[in-house]
Amino acid sequence: MIYFHIPFCKQKCSYCNFHFSTSLTHKDALLQAIHTELDLRHTELDEKPIQSIYFGGGTPSLLEVDELSKLLEQTQRYFDWDKSIEITLEANPDDLSAPFLKALAKTPINRLSIGTQSFFTDDLVLMNRAHTAGEALDSIKRSQDYGFENLSIDLIYGAMTSSMEIWESNLKTARSLEVPHISAYALTVEPKTVLSHWVQEKIVPAPSQALQNDQFHYMAQYLKREGLSHYEISNFALPGYESRHNSAYWNYSPYLGLGPSAHSYDGKSRRCWSVANNTQYIKSLAQGSLPLEIELLEEKDRYNEMLMIGLRTKKGVDLSRLKTEFSSELLAHFGNELTPKIDNGYLEIQGDYLVIPSEHWFMADGIASDLFKV
Ligand SMILES: C[S@@+](CC[C@H](N)C(=O)[O-])C[C@H]1O[C@@H](n2cnc3c(N)ncnc32)[C@H](O)[C@@H]1O
Ligand code: SF4
Repeated sequence: MIYFHIPFCKQKCSYCNFHFSTSLTHKDALLQAIHTELDLRHTELDEKPIQSIYFGGGTPSLLEVDELSKLLEQTQRYFDWDKSIEITLEANPDDLSAPFLKALAKTPINRLSIGTQSFFTDDLVLMNRAHTAGEALDSIKRSQDYGFENLSIDLIYGAMTSSMEIWESNLKTARSLEVPHISAYALTVEPKTVLSHWVQEKIVPAPSQALQNDQFHYMAQYLKREGLSHYEISNFALPGYESRHNSAYWNYSPYLGLGPSAHSYDGKSRRCWSVANNTQYIKSLAQGSLPLEIELLEEKDRYNEMLMIGLRTKKGVDLSRLKTEFSSELLAHFGNELTPKIDNGYLEIQGDYLVIPSEHWFMADGIASDLFKV
């Protein structure tokens, strides 16, 4: 699978610390650099045929449809595409105009992930989103009108402006629109964001853990009743609408990430990522040099990651895979840490998989890290 990181946004959301620039001045040079990076790195990915391509960001919907198409065309020069390839575009509601969607519907892009976040003005203002509550709603309907029925929306819960009533209404609205996939994230105060400044200066209170916990459990029960599978801690899908791209990440499949700050993984022990700086990225590729940092994963890193990723999924951690991939010393550590967690009900063995029972999912990261080898 291939990931393109498009590092531009209209404005800075208060909570976000992903890599992006709010200036489009160097857009052409940056796209040229991504094309060069694909020329130089396509041999790193040995996936035949390619199952998924994902435009993430940043805000890839700020690109022209032609610019997206050119990137897709270049992948076809190097890779065969699977017949049912999933090609996702992350899109912000304010970019999904009728002319944009009309042109997009003629491309092979067949899935949208819309950054809705909330259908309430107070939430959107706190988050400094570029769209209104009306645009949040209309962009989904308009996308469906243009044939994008395979779509996902991102929602954020647990904001200081939220409440149980607001959250129930957000989820009901999503369901009334028949959105088949929802990604929902608890608002996190990330370092170096405007939100963290506001919280530090007591301009706004920190998000309430109790509210986030209650909203998470409400969402899990409500969406289950609505027939969506809670297949990863933050992801829900109607049957057949699970994201192939994300599922491949959770299955430790190899992926090639292109663009500044994008990560790549060889499926075994090599991870690398590009510099998170547009100017340096462009400069380096213009000279034919890859602005990459490489990390070779040790056995314990791969073990920790397998637990961290697997325990966030409904399927869980594949125990037979764990047993074949890791040394007896590491497995002895795993066995010692596992027993008390099973005894107190935080972990369960279901067939060949280790899972966190759904009532403890909200604490998945803490439970996984207790099993880590440090
Ligand atoms: C980085 S954005 C990229 C997609 C697009 N630009 C957008 O805004 O939807 C991907 C998603 O990450 C989530 N996200 C980013 N930072 C977050 C934070 N601090 N807390 C909760 N969710 C966050 C948002 O839901 C957002 O939709
Ligand atoms: S949430 Fe999306 S639109 Fe907002 S700053 Fe982050 S990447 Fe950009």
